[in-house]
Amino acid sequence: MNPANTNSYNKKSVTDIQVEEKKVLLRCDFNVPLDKTTGKITDEGRIIAAIPTIKYLIEKGAAVIACSHFGRPKGEFKPEFSLAPVAESLSKHLGQSVKMAKDVIGSDAIKLAAELKPGEVMLLENTRFHKEEEKNDAEFAKKLAGMADIFVSDAFGSVHRAHASTEGVSHYLPAVSGFLLKKELDNIGGAISNPKRPLVAILGGAKVSDKLGVIGNLLKIADTIIIGGGMAYTFMKAGGGKIGKSLCEDSQLEAVLKMEEEAKDRGVKLLLPCDSIAAAEFSNDARSVTVSSDAIPDGMIALDIGPRAIQEFTDEIAGAGTIVWNGPMGVFEFESFANGTRAIAIAVAESGAISVIGGGDSAAAVRKFGLEDKITHISTGGGASLEFMEGKTLPGIACLQDA
Ligand code: 3PG
Repeated sequence: MNPANTNSYNKKSVTDIQVEEKKVLLRCDFNVPLDKTTGKITDEGRIIAAIPTIKYLIEKGAAVIACSHFGRPKGEFKPEFSLAPVAESLSKHLGQSVKMAKDVIGSDAIKLAAELKPGEVMLLENTRFHKEEEKNDAEFAKKLAGMADIFVSDAFGSVHRAHASTEGVSHYLPAVSGFLLKKELDNIGGAISNPKRPLVAILGGAKVSDKLGVIGNLLKIADTIIIGGGMAYTFMKAGGGKIGKSLCEDSQLEAVLKMEEEAKDRGVKLLLPCDSIAAAEFSNDARSVTVSSDAIPDGMIALDIGPRAIQEFTDEIAGAGTIVWNGPMGVFEFESFANGTRAIAIAVAESGAISVIGGGDSAAAVRKFGLEDKITHISTGGGASLEFMEGKTLPGIACLQDA
């Protein structure tokens, strides 16, 4: 297996299988953000991304039984975790009504599925209303599968989970990928297994422990690794710097030193922010100063990368052939500390390089700055895209039929 572990995924897709007149169990990732006060979906990206596969299936005369998890209801029916708002949004984007089942494998779902006609779409309730889902329980998977003739997985955001609806059902039905899953594999896989060089990886976010696996794998394939965000200060402290109240995982000091060593040995350029914007407190209105990243004043916390770091990072990005980016450079949710993330997003968008953004915060940042049209691929997976870039075997992909 190559370090990127992507060429091993050559899976059949919906176009490789007869779907006419068939009932298709389609696993989507409709785990979308909701506004807690209005209950409205705040980002329909994952719903819109599922449309091409659904349209293809219904145009071919399949009946689509869509399913997904939503949040973490811990195995109980809880109305606030209902997929009903998703059914409404899906109907709007599809331009046809989506029948919402009252349950997952209960009598309502089974009846609706049995009556579903070619070209029609229904949505099961949240698969995590049953604790058997996360346990990948065989009986539960068999009941889900029992409603359909074929399993199509388009839930890239959930392929790192070996759950009944992502993996278990593949033991009972012919299992293939949808267009979204294929696009994610082609784009992320292509960027890390066969990149146009130089390959520049940008990693940010709060916790270095979340990113050690991905840094470890990217050290084998990238030419440059840029580190920003809260995790940079664990590197700073490990190197003997003063980091004030900035984020730091003391348990990872040794691990990051090892990473720096390995980067040196492999000839990978590992860039840390030379300066930072440090604030008196974690607040948009806090008093802030620009300081050297290894000399953050006592009592202050680094909330963004500084102007010299921005210059150094954007120069590097401008020369990239391929860019992969996962994690913001600072607390971009606070306008006062969004400069670093905004500058990096603009540099990526204007680089002319093949650009792949992992899901989660960096995807949200690119959308916030209105740059999504200038990015080659924005992943719909947060944890899944990270684990894919780590080179891990993803159960929700491994279970699909080989091409
Ligand atoms: C995600 O949003 O990353 C996926 O839907 C997976 O959700 P989970 O972390 O609750 O499994």
